[in-house]
Amino acid sequence: MEISVSYLNSLYSKEKTILNIEKTTANYIHVDLMDGGFVPQRNFELADVLKLLKNHELPLDIHLMVFDPLIYIDKLAELEPSYITFHLEATKDIVKTIEAIKRHNIKVGLSIKPDTNIMELMPYLSIIDLVLVMSVPPGAGGQSFMPSAVNRVEILKNYRNNNNLTYKIEIDGGINNETLKEVKANIDIAVSGSYICMAKDYQARINLLQEI
Ligand code: DX5
Ligand code: ZN
Repeated sequence: MEISVSYLNSLYSKEKTILNIEKTTANYIHVDLMDGGFVPQRNFELADVLKLLKNHELPLDIHLMVFDPLIYIDKLAELEPSYITFHLEATKDIVKTIEAIKRHNIKVGLSIKPDTNIMELMPYLSIIDLVLVMSVPPGAGGQSFMPSAVNRVEILKNYRNNNNLTYKIEIDGGINNETLKEVKANIDIAVSGSYICMAKDYQARINLLQEI
């Protein structure tokens, strides 16, 4: 299992938080981008994100919580992220957006909100690299894990195995050393934000997650 650290909620500035994450054994920096439309909060200007992350060393796992994700892909590709994930609910151009991400040789993730039927993912599961299952409503760090996600990741794993598919399964929202136990067997990547970045010693928290 890999760990992706979200810097949305932190004791420190974004810059300092990212430097702290870079010093750990985390597998990815999870970049949450919110447009103030798909979710009520807005937390970025594209130029600022490019500047903030241009010297990143850990691989980036970008999570777009925006309408019309297509318009951001070419610019974000400059950061050479490992994954760009967008929301199924955010665009009508799902296949077009998947193709635009792939054209940059970036892996594609598709995400679903907690109240979206996972059957809606089915047409895309053979052409994407990752499913990001939200275990909180998108829009803020520090929310409580929704137990309904446990069954959703299990269904997605069984479906993958039964159909010889290869997408990774990522869980995002309210992950800590207790909630991770409930989904660990069925996921490949765990996003964790507040549990790591609201603590002083990031590596100690990451160790606790990796030991589960
Ligand atoms: C929620 C974001 C999450 C969040 C994770 O909208 O997509 O990535 O920041 O933070 P925690 O772990 O605090 O729920
Ligand atoms: Zn996220």
